[in-house]
Amino acid sequence: MSDNNQNTQNHEGQEPALNVGTRLIPRITVQAFCENSQTAQLIEKALSDRRMSKVALTTHNGSIEGAIETYRSNPTPNLILVETSLPTDQIPSALEEMAQFCDPGTHVIVLGQINDVHLYRSLIKSGVAEYIVLPTSTDILVSAISEIFVADDSPPIGRTIGFISAKGGSGSSTVSHNSAWMAAQALRQDVLIVDMDLPFGTAGLNFNQDPPNGIADAVYAQENLDVVMLDRLITKAANNINLLTAPVSLEKPFDFGAGDFEQIIELVQSNIPLVILDIPHLWTSWVRQTLIALDEIVIVAEPDLANLRNTKTLVDTIAALRPGENKPMLVLNKVGLPKRPEIPSAEFASAVDCELIEQIAFDAPTFGTAANNGQMIAEVSSGSRLNDSFKNISARITGRQIHETTSKLGGLDISGLLKKLKRA
Ligand SMILES: Nc1ncnc2c1ncn2[C@@H]1O[C@H](COP(=O)(O)OP(=O)(O)OP(=O)(O)O)[C@@H](O)[C@H]1O
Ligand SMILES: [Mg+2]
Repeated sequence: MSDNNQNTQNHEGQEPALNVGTRLIPRITVQAFCENSQTAQLIEKALSDRRMSKVALTTHNGSIEGAIETYRSNPTPNLILVETSLPTDQIPSALEEMAQFCDPGTHVIVLGQINDVHLYRSLIKSGVAEYIVLPTSTDILVSAISEIFVADDSPPIGRTIGFISAKGGSGSSTVSHNSAWMAAQALRQDVLIVDMDLPFGTAGLNFNQDPPNGIADAVYAQENLDVVMLDRLITKAANNINLLTAPVSLEKPFDFGAGDFEQIIELVQSNIPLVILDIPHLWTSWVRQTLIALDEIVIVAEPDLANLRNTKTLVDTIAALRPGENKPMLVLNKVGLPKRPEIPSAEFASAVDCELIEQIAFDAPTFGTAANNGQMIAEVSSGSRLNDSFKNISARITGRQIHETTSKLGGLDISGLLKKLKRA
């Protein structure tokens, strides 16, 4: 946000230039805390601006103090609008207190009565995205929001997380869908699940959806893919859960080039706060390219030898492909499958040199019922401990909380095997 715009608005009474054009603001969540009903009305009126058509807004009565109370126990949205009538010298410290409860990606616009350039400068310096003097117009408000989220130099709003199984069937699709569901519930933000398994994907089945369009249309559209088309191809499966489903057709082979999914990833990332990519168990040029492009990668593995070997190769290859980027995280799934000799979780994780973020028990009745019903585990068994696992994964991948898991399971002695792998 440029200093000039605000100075113009504050001190010469003119509206800022619409230098971000009329582009739509992405699917962000906005929470407003208003002390006066006129301010709440103004903010609600701003929602009818075309640029705000995808924004999810909630307004609350309250001030910075109210926001602090709310965010003590609730996740913060992409943007907080907060009205304050505090005296100039108390505003920065009140905001500082609020900042303690805000996630790093959250932006704050302050609405206040005091027209003071020193206050404005100190707030901007402390990380507030904009300070708007009341009374103001909806256009000034919407333009300020656009400046944060639509300007060419705005960082993409979306976090991209890819799930891939170490061995076909280890459960990466199931784990990714349930974790996405939990993230959507916890953050109350739009989540998009991109099913990249075009011939056999299960996102449609698992959410009981069978839309005619989806990811195939997006990938074949290539440079013609834009946000309007993307919106048409996305299916809303539940509150905050959106899908780009696979065509699940074998009529023609799906052979893609390395960069064929780049456009989709870029577009979804700049329009949706959380993007979960359900990547099939393949090693093609486009899978490789996709893994390079993502913010986080989760490898889902079962605690057996083939999974261990594949996880190790995946981890090493991914680390070499994206130096300096976050290493993949590990989820062990189907742990405790009756009568199966298993590699203990801690040893598995240390052998592959990967952070174990969760282990999920084998539970055929619950997973089977969920799969057959086209529902999530939380829907078929809300009291199941499995939901805690998905909550932990969602917290970890969205960066909302650090969760540490330690092995509680016994199993095979694999020290010999580990040595062998280390030598390889
Ligand atoms: N913890 C679990 N306990 C029991 N069954 C499970 C568990 N996790 C997943 N499943 C089941 O395992 C099967 C395979 O899962 P899923 O389709 O998610 O695997 P995948 O890793 O995505 O496969 P691919 O790598 O081929 O895409 C599904 O039927 C699913 O319901
Ligand atoms: Mg899958």
